[in-house]
Amino acid sequence: MGTTFDRGEQAFAGINYPSRAEAVVHDLVVEGQLPADLNGAYYRLGPDPAHPPTYQGVLPIMDGDGMMVMFHFREGQVDFRSRYVQTERYQLEHTANRALYGPYRNPFFDDPSVQGTDRGEANTTARMHAGILWALKEDALGISIEPLTLRTLGVHDFDGHVTSKTMTAHPKLDPRTGEMIFYGAAAKGETTPDIAFYIADRDGKITTQEWFQAPYASMVHDFAVTEKWIIFPVMPCVSNLERLRQGGSIYDWEPERGMYLGIMPRDGSAADVRWAHSDARWFYHVMNAYDDGDVIRLDVAEAAIQPFPWFHVDPAKTWNQRDAEGHLTRWTINPRTGSLSTQQLLDYSSEFPRLDERFELGTYRHGYLLVNDPAKPEVTGYNSVGHYDHHTGALTKVWAGEHISFEEPQFVPRSADAPEGDGYLLAIRHHADTMLSDLIVIDTADFAAGPIAVVALPFRLRPGTHGTWVDEGDLVPKT
Ligand SMILES: [Fe+2]
Repeated sequence: MGTTFDRGEQAFAGINYPSRAEAVVHDLVVEGQLPADLNGAYYRLGPDPAHPPTYQGVLPIMDGDGMMVMFHFREGQVDFRSRYVQTERYQLEHTANRALYGPYRNPFFDDPSVQGTDRGEANTTARMHAGILWALKEDALGISIEPLTLRTLGVHDFDGHVTSKTMTAHPKLDPRTGEMIFYGAAAKGETTPDIAFYIADRDGKITTQEWFQAPYASMVHDFAVTEKWIIFPVMPCVSNLERLRQGGSIYDWEPERGMYLGIMPRDGSAADVRWAHSDARWFYHVMNAYDDGDVIRLDVAEAAIQPFPWFHVDPAKTWNQRDAEGHLTRWTINPRTGSLSTQQLLDYSSEFPRLDERFELGTYRHGYLLVNDPAKPEVTGYNSVGHYDHHTGALTKVWAGEHISFEEPQFVPRSADAPEGDGYLLAIRHHADTMLSDLIVIDTADFAAGPIAVVALPFRLRPGTHGTWVDEGDLVPKT
């Protein structure tokens, strides 16, 4: 009997229907002109369920096996490759030819044959550090992927030096020191309030490990790092073990708990973490953070509530569309007093903020993000990609057509020493009318002109989450 994902789920509607295509396409069709100086690989990871889930209830759109895709640009040609991350979970289900795991991040309803195995889906972020191409999701440790073949090399725990059960999908890479700074939330297991903090040096060796407990157990999806400080945002998307045992959502929105910012000096220890309490706020993603005199500037896509309705136990009471929309917002934090003030930078609904990563953790001018332009037709996802100039406050939007949605953009510098923001912006798009996907290249020298090249895929990808660019010279591990 063949398989089907038709169970009336929003998570599988339209362009979100699983693609599951592991493919190699040589020399993709290109419309327009690819820049000759764009040489390297764009990797992107996303959830793409290999098997129809067997559990009932609302399916979180981020519940699915990690699918890594690679667009390899070389001398005006693009080759494509996609491959599932071969997690233990993926391999066990593939062998059984059916779903074996229960609801999202709920180990209590798994098939007895997989009890105690690694439930990690490795489906959120692709990022490269110290020669390792990471497939990351916050529910488990990270997976190492072979960059040219996308072959899975396995769980990477830094030779046993990372004992957290989890690793964030949003590590920060410091371009000045070469360090990767990261943490695991629910570090001692689902719903535990423990946070493990790590720094790996430019060679991938762990130099710092600190453990502490948050004021309550919650989803800690992203965090902020500056040259001097680390900020751990504990926002009231609260996890609960008893609810999990009963088959309920791992998370609920509990704004009455308020928000805590855990503030730690970058060269400090767990004993130095101070928790600053304030009213409930939410963000999934940080554009950037930096020190500005005595304060920290932290730019986030802030929403009034955690935006996914399936992480609200009673969405009729705590969820509404308007509050779920993110807006680019600047937080100013005094790390010594814990005071917080905020300023909304954009009226548009906006998410997936990025920057020129050579300027990560420092002062910067150019931001890139997805925006929903209300003057254009609604799509599943975001209908426009934008450039935000922090110096002028100007937003430049590119809209592509009435059935087209964008994935998170990726900035690529024109050269290693090009000025900040001088280069190309890549973004995967999905066409709800033709059910095909492509990738556009914008030259940031004239952002408003839109794509200079469109790289067409002969099939549709399921929309993914976060990606990264790796220069051609860094694709082969250095010996
Ligand atoms: Fe994310």
